[in-house]
Amino acid sequence: MEEAFERAYCFELADKLEAERDLTDEELASVLLCDYPGFDEYLAEKARAVREKYYGKSVYLRGLVEISNICKNNCYYCGIRRDNANAERYRLSEEQILDCCDAGYDLGFRTFVLQGGEDPYYTDELIVSIVSAIKDKHPDCAVTLSLGEFEKESYQKFFDAGADRYLLRHETADKEHYEMLHPAEMSFDHRMQCLRDLKDIGYQVGCGMMVGSPYQTAAHLVKDLRFLKEFKPEMVGIGPFIPHHDTQFADCEAGTVDMTIRLLSIIRLLLPDVLLPATTALGTIDPRGREKGILAGANVVMPNLSPSDVRGKYLLYDNKICTGDEAAECIRCMAMRISSVGYETVVARGDHVSFSME
Ligand code: 5AD
Ligand code: FES
Repeated sequence: MEEAFERAYCFELADKLEAERDLTDEELASVLLCDYPGFDEYLAEKARAVREKYYGKSVYLRGLVEISNICKNNCYYCGIRRDNANAERYRLSEEQILDCCDAGYDLGFRTFVLQGGEDPYYTDELIVSIVSAIKDKHPDCAVTLSLGEFEKESYQKFFDAGADRYLLRHETADKEHYEMLHPAEMSFDHRMQCLRDLKDIGYQVGCGMMVGSPYQTAAHLVKDLRFLKEFKPEMVGIGPFIPHHDTQFADCEAGTVDMTIRLLSIIRLLLPDVLLPATTALGTIDPRGREKGILAGANVVMPNLSPSDVRGKYLLYDNKICTGDEAAECIRCMAMRISSVGYETVVARGDHVSFSME
């Protein structure tokens, strides 16, 4: 009897989340911990409906260019952290980056995401020059930067040069947890300040966290969700934590596909019009992870446009997929995967649109 009651309670919480686009922290925790069969499908169905109301069946493509795996930081979970002497390092020149974007443009991409470690080689001036050159050549494209932490003045320069969006995962909204994942020289407060600065400047901002990162509890995830609801980012990038063999978390367990999918649905319901990628990490822990993500409310995928000779080197975690394919192959594969679940990839810029919350 009691069990039946609890089961009904979980499903009612899903209804409430759908209707009110929010829950109390205690309720969010119950949704995260609910283990009744059929619950994920129930949540995903609602998330899909909300996603389709705002974005139809469209899945936006972003061309990801991994510009450098040289990083001055030493995040404990990350395979390209400074102290990993086994990582084979590379960085792309301005010309190589522009070539990638040109090739991507011809393949149909209208958003380029330049992502990399915090590599001091890319000075403010160089980033400004790269962003300006892309925008000059392809004024119809959006440029997204994902290059880590800078001071506000630098972010402003990149924005003035034409950068439209910035991805900077907050990683965890709990300061103590942040400090368990990063060395003392990295600061939770600075990361949060960066996110506020980016928003102030006028970027479309993406934040996000790993699912199942070491020491993460349901309470941490509730804090992450509360942060997302309050910060209202235009994009949210989440993916499972996956151990990298050359890190101190090598023996930790990976995050699960089920929890990642559940969180995608919850985030879709909390922030109905958010841009939500089904990430490479999700595709790495489950061969159909990205398709499952799309079916749970995600509406963005980011095929890899990096030159083939460096793809196998941008390894934040083990067993990363899409490291051997040509860009064109990766897009074809992605388009097939998306259509296999009844959605369609679109090449539009796919800006965040604020829909009125009627
Ligand atoms: N597993 C999963 N995701 C990772 N990231 C870094 N290392 C890992 C890992 N081992 C994520 C971080 C970072 C983003 C670029 O990749 O969240 O912000
Ligand atoms: Fe990259 Fe399939 S999506 S190879």
